[in-house]
Amino acid sequence: MNVIKIGICGLGTVGAGVLTVMQRNADLLNRRAGRAMRVSHVGTRRPKPDLNTADITLSDDIFAVVNDPDVDIVVELIGGYEPAFELVMQAIANGKHVVTANKALIAVHGNAIFTAAEAKGVSVRYEAAVAGGIPIIKALREGLSANKIEWLAGIINGTGNYILTEMRDKGRLFADVLADAQQLGYAEADPTFDVEGIDAAHKLVILASLAFAMPLNIDNCFTQGISAVAPQDVTLATELGYRIKHLGIARRTAKGIEMRVHPTLIPHRRLIANVDGVMNAVLVKGDAVDATLYYGAGAGAEPTASSVIADIVDLVRLSEAPYNAQVLSLGESADTLVEHRVLSINEIESAYYLRVMVDDKPGVLSHITQILSDSGISIDAVLQKESDQHQGHGLPAGHVAVVLITDVIVEAIFTSAVKNIEALDSVTDTVTFIRVESLA
Ligand code: HSE
Repeated sequence: MNVIKIGICGLGTVGAGVLTVMQRNADLLNRRAGRAMRVSHVGTRRPKPDLNTADITLSDDIFAVVNDPDVDIVVELIGGYEPAFELVMQAIANGKHVVTANKALIAVHGNAIFTAAEAKGVSVRYEAAVAGGIPIIKALREGLSANKIEWLAGIINGTGNYILTEMRDKGRLFADVLADAQQLGYAEADPTFDVEGIDAAHKLVILASLAFAMPLNIDNCFTQGISAVAPQDVTLATELGYRIKHLGIARRTAKGIEMRVHPTLIPHRRLIANVDGVMNAVLVKGDAVDATLYYGAGAGAEPTASSVIADIVDLVRLSEAPYNAQVLSLGESADTLVEHRVLSINEIESAYYLRVMVDDKPGVLSHITQILSDSGISIDAVLQKESDQHQGHGLPAGHVAVVLITDVIVEAIFTSAVKNIEALDSVTDTVTFIRVESLA
């Protein structure tokens, strides 16, 4: 049998990791794939002299890899939308299987890519696009295929999780920690993708499509970043028995699909609340299996390479099999995926943490609780912090922070109550609110 030839486009952090691990574990990979494979062609403008590229054709044009008739599988590791989209479509048109780590590409152009791949009878794999080294795509698509997925929630951006962990553990300010994360190489080229939730939204959309067998739908994902999370809320959440995490949440409800990325309070006793630093975790609730949790490194050269290579091994193992033996990109054919209505953020149901800054006067708390009660909102917990007694909370002198946790309510009802609270004379600032999930 011929050796299967792999072409890699992009030799950055992940590309170098893929080459290194493929060479180091060559024997076991060939055994697991059931036949020999090797990297035959790499496209990069920046060759790395410390890597072993003997017997590999090096091109500075990535399209030379895609158009190389000897290459069987194209591995796209350049990231971004273009020219990655053109490159992948060209690979498919040339009848090559594709492995990619590019979450932005799949989230935005996945429908077109998967449809083209099915029409051509080739496969597109993207395990490394979500949660780095955690095999969450395979888990959702294959390991949990018996289940109707009810919901999933994930810490799927390592940079954001690192920032929130440092703020909580060391009382550091958001901007300082972000600078660190950039230096450590965790952050995206444009770090707003990390801190404003765009990277997490790309990943969530992919997970939601797999979970609910629906086309990828980036336009309807609600996205809120962590740049506005204040240190006092991190501290107050801890006092109330919660941790603030930047979660991606996808949930099937009777009204439609919820798909949202935002800072979220979760009870500290949940395992996922203790996923710290750059680590990722995804909690998936299926109707048969109940809750399952997947944890591991969400970024980095070799963890991401681990996922890329697993996809390559799968494709090599099935290279002689008929196309219908391949697992399709979203678990089913593009023809059978069903569009679901994605709820607007006003329609979702959540519990809420709210911090109201008020003048230190009698009766203020009762005015706030009356407004909530008039809106049918139950209160689960109340905490009051006076500025002079609690310097550590960063509260301005003469002000009191009234902190409440509500029961679950429709967001539109909650935000309307917040407007009424902000209209009270004794309320000195806009109300801060953060959604709360029990993940029970
Ligand atoms: N910037 C991403 C993160 C890298 O911090 O999680 C992995 O997708």
